[in-house]
Amino acid sequence: MTKFHFLFSALMFIHNFMVSYAMIVRNLTTDQHALLAFKHQIIDPHNILANSWTTNNSVCNWVGVSCAAKDPRVTVLDLSNMGFTGTIPPQLGNLSFLVSLNLSHNNFHDHFPRELGRLSRLKLIDLSFNFLNGEILSWFGRLDKVLHLNLRNNNLTGVIPPSIANLSNLENLDLNHNLIHGNIPHEISKFLNLRILRLASNQLSGSIPAVIYNISSLRMTSVASNNLCGSLPKHICRHLPNLEALYLDGNDFSGQIPSIGECKNLQGLQLSSNRFNGSIPRNIGSLTKLRTLFLYDSNLEGEIPQDIRNLQKLEIFDVGRNNLSGQIPLRIDECMNLEKLYLDANRLNGSIPKSIGNLTRLTYLYLGENNLKG
Ligand SMILES: *[C@@H]1O[C@H](CO)[C@@H](O)[C@H](O)[C@H]1NC(C)=O
Ligand SMILES: *[C@@H]1O[C@H](CO)[C@@H](O)[C@H](O)[C@H]1NC(C)=O
Ligand SMILES: *[C@@H]1O[C@H](CO)[C@@H](O)[C@H](O)[C@H]1NC(C)=O
Ligand SMILES: *[C@@H]1O[C@H](CO)[C@@H](O)[C@H](O)[C@H]1NC(C)=O
Ligand SMILES: *[C@@H]1O[C@H](CO)[C@@H](O)[C@H](O)[C@H]1NC(C)=O
Ligand SMILES: *[C@@H]1O[C@H](CO)[C@@H](O)[C@H](O)[C@H]1NC(C)=O
Ligand SMILES: *[C@@H]1O[C@H](CO)[C@@H](O)[C@H](O)[C@H]1NC(C)=O
Ligand SMILES: *[C@@H]1O[C@H](CO)[C@@H](O)[C@H](O)[C@H]1NC(C)=O
Ligand SMILES: *[C@@H]1O[C@H](CO)[C@@H](O)[C@H](O)[C@H]1NC(C)=O
Ligand SMILES: *[C@@H]1O[C@H](CO)[C@@H](O)[C@H](O)[C@H]1NC(C)=O
Ligand SMILES: *[C@@H]1O[C@H](CO)[C@@H](O)[C@H](O)[C@H]1NC(C)=O
Repeated sequence: MTKFHFLFSALMFIHNFMVSYAMIVRNLTTDQHALLAFKHQIIDPHNILANSWTTNNSVCNWVGVSCAAKDPRVTVLDLSNMGFTGTIPPQLGNLSFLVSLNLSHNNFHDHFPRELGRLSRLKLIDLSFNFLNGEILSWFGRLDKVLHLNLRNNNLTGVIPPSIANLSNLENLDLNHNLIHGNIPHEISKFLNLRILRLASNQLSGSIPAVIYNISSLRMTSVASNNLCGSLPKHICRHLPNLEALYLDGNDFSGQIPSIGECKNLQGLQLSSNRFNGSIPRNIGSLTKLRTLFLYDSNLEGEIPQDIRNLQKLEIFDVGRNNLSGQIPLRIDECMNLEKLYLDANRLNGSIPKSIGNLTRLTYLYLGENNLKG
């Protein structure tokens, strides 16, 4: 190697080192720049940031900001409920140590800056209750440490991208109340720790991918108020031992209500406003933790199972607007926590059991449009 070559290589090495050094050396000053850029880009109608987010005050003491204890960098940004307006500034993508971002309950509009995809340490994202639009793009797949993703009550469009499968640590996904369409992707099966899945009040269609019934960590599943169809598996809880709430109401599901007795931990079951037919499953009486049972507005027929009286925690029982026949179960008063009882618009006959008078907590009783007497 000639001296020149050596010198050149050495210079190149130093140059490359300086470039990468400059990129790596991000410190609290970087975070301060990013946050000041944030402050200047949004509208803060209550002047919450004006006196706090100033350079005479350490960033870690700014309102809504928390830092890691050693090697201080901004790790938590909680600016929920501040009345902020504007777009989410792309500079947030420079808060490279951020673990938790909560901008919920503001008036942020427009779409997410793709710079957020750089925040690879994020575990908690809450952008709910804003006016965000646009799509959930595939760069979300880079946020693979996220445990909690809440984008509910925005105006998001597009489909749920299959790349969401990269968020394999996800425990809580809430996309309720948006304008998301398309199918629920099969890739959802990659969420082996998912506990809460909320996709209600969107425009999802197709059937629920069967893999969902194998995510044994699930505690709450809501896909209510979409355009979903298809039937449910016969033993819906065989691999869902922890399920506490199942909300499928307001879709186009059909076929029979599955044998639900295995869902031992179920507290809320909402299947109303679908096209379920057949009868109420006999073994519903074994769901002893059940507190709310909504089966109204379907095509159910047959009798109300006598075992309903085992549901001692039941507070709301609504089977109105079906085609149920036979009598009101005589010992319904054993459901002593009943507050609302809707049996209206069926073909129930016989007399109204006197024991109903023992339901001391009852505030709503709808028995109209039946053939009841007494
Ligand atoms: C952050 O790094 C810059 C150089 O990149 C330096 O000028 C500044 O003093 C550092 N700030 C802190 C708080 O260490
Ligand atoms: C954010 O980082 C980018 C590079 O990733 C840089 O160009 C920009 O100046 C930074 N902005 C702020 C406000 O620090
Ligand atoms: C920083 O300066 C602002 C005015 O620019 C003042 O309102 C605020 O009280 C000062 N904060 C501290 C911690 O000194
Ligand atoms: C975000 O802030 C809101 C309002 O303060 C709070 O209710 C919510 O629980 C926070 N989100 C998370 C994920 O902690
Ligand atoms: C959502 O978008 C619809 C039109 O697509 C619009 O009418 C509505 O006002 C928007 N809502 C919000 C909260 O931005
Ligand atoms: C998803 O993860 C795979 C494998 O870890 C990776 O190759 C891919 O780039 C990731 N996708 C996104 C959008 O980050
Ligand atoms: C669910 O898990 C069971 C048992 O592990 C397996 O037999 C079945 O094929 C799985 N179903 C789906 C749709 O993956
Ligand atoms: C329920 O509806 C399905 C079609 O969705 C039909 O095939 C089946 O015979 C019906 N069952 C009963 C008991 O009415
Ligand atoms: C209700 O059930 C009766 C007897 O099974 C049947 O004749 C009638 O068509 C059903 N009504 C509706 C609206 O499904
Ligand atoms: C109630 O209706 C069923 C047919 O659905 C009938 O067999 C029964 O006799 C009726 N009972 C009374 C008390 O009218
Ligand atoms: C109401 O409950 C009491 C005590 O459990 C019982 O003795 C009585 O028979 C019940 N009344 C009716 C009408 O079932």
